[in-house]
Amino acid sequence: MNATTSSLVDARGVPVSDCQPQSLQDYETALLQFHSYFGDPTETLSQTLEADPEFVLGHIFFASALLMMTERQYLPLIREHVEQAEALSGKANARERLLTLAARQWMEGDWDRASLTWDQVLLDHPLDAMALQLGHLTDFYRGDCFNLRDRVCRVMTSWDKSVPGYSYILGMQAFGFEECNQYDKAELVSNTALEMEARDPWAVHALAHVLEMQGRFDEGKIMYRERENDWAPDNGFAFHNWWHLALYHIEHEDFDSALNLYDEQILPDDSDVSLQMLDASALLWRLHLQAVEVGARWDRIAQLWANKTPLENGYYAFNDLHAVISFVGAGRFDAAREVLAAVETAAQDNAGVTRMMAQDVGIATCRAMIAFGEQRYADVLDQLLPIRTVAHRFGGSHAQRDILTQTLIESALRGDRPELARNLISERKLHKPFTPLSQRFASRLAA
Ligand SMILES: [Fe+2]
Repeated sequence: MNATTSSLVDARGVPVSDCQPQSLQDYETALLQFHSYFGDPTETLSQTLEADPEFVLGHIFFASALLMMTERQYLPLIREHVEQAEALSGKANARERLLTLAARQWMEGDWDRASLTWDQVLLDHPLDAMALQLGHLTDFYRGDCFNLRDRVCRVMTSWDKSVPGYSYILGMQAFGFEECNQYDKAELVSNTALEMEARDPWAVHALAHVLEMQGRFDEGKIMYRERENDWAPDNGFAFHNWWHLALYHIEHEDFDSALNLYDEQILPDDSDVSLQMLDASALLWRLHLQAVEVGARWDRIAQLWANKTPLENGYYAFNDLHAVISFVGAGRFDAAREVLAAVETAAQDNAGVTRMMAQDVGIATCRAMIAFGEQRYADVLDQLLPIRTVAHRFGGSHAQRDILTQTLIESALRGDRPELARNLISERKLHKPFTPLSQRFASRLAA
């Protein structure tokens, strides 16, 4: 049977080229794992592909899910599966050929082009939940907050609660609203998603962002604890939700609770997952800014980043920044400078959007963090002030990029620039209602 004669469709009615019946069932399992972060879709698909090596959609999904790890180490495996999907293009349908193209574009560094290709898939197949989530995550990694919201909105009229997986689409939409500062809508849609499916860590996360940005930290703590059994146990995204809870504690100057979460939940064991390591690094940096002693934690997280060098250096500037702050925190300035050198090279040599990220944001942020570690506060300001309004270009959320604002405020305070500190604190108070952390900054300014 070839693509033109296949009448297979997935659970949402999206066409799938010929495959074994079990493979299609496994696809649904993997998709649920991808949406919910309960279980590992690549593990599921790797078993499927052993039994059905000509399952085109399986190769595509496997490769694309690995792309979302934003790590260079997976590129050889990704390439293998993209090439297998390409070799099977004769039996693939039009949707699958486009999905294969998107994976190749992402793999080759053209994340912008891949984003457009997924949108092209969604024109004909607005119920393609895999393409939608891949595009959504890519919007996040590219700091494209408008598309984070609007890509989901463009297909929303095709979805309703009768379509399997609808709640997860609402969770994506909620996060898009939040990153566009539409907090009321974000909260409403998160709650709708969670009424339909309580075990959706992405929707919980969207709600957590809303509560943070509105300074509703007490509510956030309660929400997380009340829902803990839904989002935390055995969940691949739990470290990030724990990280948000730790941020609430930091805003309340409860640094011990933040450190306890770090030890017990955010980085309880050694990891080689950049997404997890960067949260750990960012949390330590925020505490470091407040002169909290974090002990040997810097050495440990720095070593975890060192284990990934030099391979990962210069691949994705957002990861590079967090490697640098770990090395600075641990006093390993040579290692920090090696990452910076790789980012400078990436700004010349990388393909596609990752070159822009390194050039526009990566170099300045890495230089700034090294300068902070060397107490060259005027240099921190010189590096960060010109790029802070375009810093979203290297991805992350508003909450994650607040690390740059906090570093700026601290540098202004330590670098004898009270007028700048005053204005930055004023700005932060507008973005987030007054918190003990902001009060702490303001008190030091007054002193
Ligand atoms: Fe987040």
